[in-house]
Amino acid sequence: MTSRSAFALAGLSFFAACQSPPPKPTWHRDIAPLMEEKCGGCHSAGSIGPFSLTTHAEVMAVAESVRAAVTSRRMPPWPARRDCAEYAPDGSLTDEQIALITGWLDDGAMEGDPRDYQALEGPKTSLSRVDLTLPMVKPYTPKKMPDDYRCFVLDWPETEPKYITGFNLAPGVNAMVHHADVLYVPPEKAAEFRANDPNGDGWECYNPPILEGYWIGTFVPGSLGMDFPAGSGLKVEPGSKVFIQFHYNTAATNGPKPDLSKLELSLADKAKPGLVVALAKVSWLRERAMRIPAFEKDVMHRYEEDPTKIISVFNREFVDGLPLKAYATIIHMHEMGSKATFEIMRKDGTKECVNDIPKWEFHWQLPYSLKTPKTVYPGDQVAIECHWDNSQENQPYINGIQRVPRELNWGPNTDDEMCVAGVYFTH
Ligand code: HEC
Repeated sequence: MTSRSAFALAGLSFFAACQSPPPKPTWHRDIAPLMEEKCGGCHSAGSIGPFSLTTHAEVMAVAESVRAAVTSRRMPPWPARRDCAEYAPDGSLTDEQIALITGWLDDGAMEGDPRDYQALEGPKTSLSRVDLTLPMVKPYTPKKMPDDYRCFVLDWPETEPKYITGFNLAPGVNAMVHHADVLYVPPEKAAEFRANDPNGDGWECYNPPILEGYWIGTFVPGSLGMDFPAGSGLKVEPGSKVFIQFHYNTAATNGPKPDLSKLELSLADKAKPGLVVALAKVSWLRERAMRIPAFEKDVMHRYEEDPTKIISVFNREFVDGLPLKAYATIIHMHEMGSKATFEIMRKDGTKECVNDIPKWEFHWQLPYSLKTPKTVYPGDQVAIECHWDNSQENQPYINGIQRVPRELNWGPNTDDEMCVAGVYFTH
């Protein structure tokens, strides 16, 4: 062999090395860190998911259903349109992450070397300090299966005004708490709410009192709570009550278990005022103007408002006519909802998407925290738009018989409807 052809051969093998495909994805290196982050909060021992997805063997046992769940985006539950706004935390999978999971399954779902495991980077949100723990008065065992909606009232123990600066709900039976909404009710309404729950047994109820009370936070499985943004807090007066609505689901626990959940809060004597405003049109409630006629496939109601004009009505620490920062939203509708949007309409006519739920999922009413807050200036408007499908095809089956559509309107029961956007504002 001449030196020249040896050189050419060396070149060839160098070329071949460059062309060799990247190493195939493995469970330990690529998939375990991703599933730990995006599935582990619900699919681990004792949590709400119907099975664990924490080991190679567990995932293999349900591999094809994992493929179907992630490619259809049914899992992880994240009904928001992903190109509307950037959220943090963001529970959804990117297109690349879905391709990584399906590619791994296609390539033989190799397990790989445990030493390759490295947790995904990025901050995890959680409550950083607990100053006050408020447990339920007594354990509650769900009476309805699989879904039991139950509300409880707790006493607020502080004797001076305090700001709640962070929130967490520690479920008693993790695998049974599908979600929980926590609010506080001001002193003037305290007696009325206490009358619903004199002994801590709670009562069946489908709605948090979003218009009488003030939102503190929403728990969804896997969440570890959060500090409120920008050092802000919700001012609570002595004599207030805390209200918790649980959605218990007994599918993952093989029947009802006694639950004793605890609310964990961080408190401060002073904070930048924050507030969750529940935006809904007054005439919907007062005049039952949210008519949803029977047999209609797409009924829409929309509410537009400049929140800088009315904010002081909700909380006297806020001043009308000043810009507001919006940090997070949650949209609330009932079972016949089909889609909803929340947007900011700028004075110059441009629109900014804040939250868009193209296919409403009653069971996954998630809070969405904006990665960067959006400022609402005087003259801008915020708009919530809700759609309902009240056609025959969309009616629920009750004891095997499909319900006949009837006119729906605003109301507190699951077979009434609502359309509310909760928004966390500071100045
Ligand atoms: C917020 C909680 C939560 C997260 C996060 C989550 N799941 Fe689920 N998952 C559930 C629940 C609850 C069910 C039971 C069915 C239901 O309620 O929709 C379920 C059901 C499933 C099923 C059964 C089939 C189906 O589609 O219903 C699969 C497969 C699945 N999840 C895979 C995943 C994977 C993979 C991830 C992460 C990429 C994930 N899930 C993230 C809560 C969650």
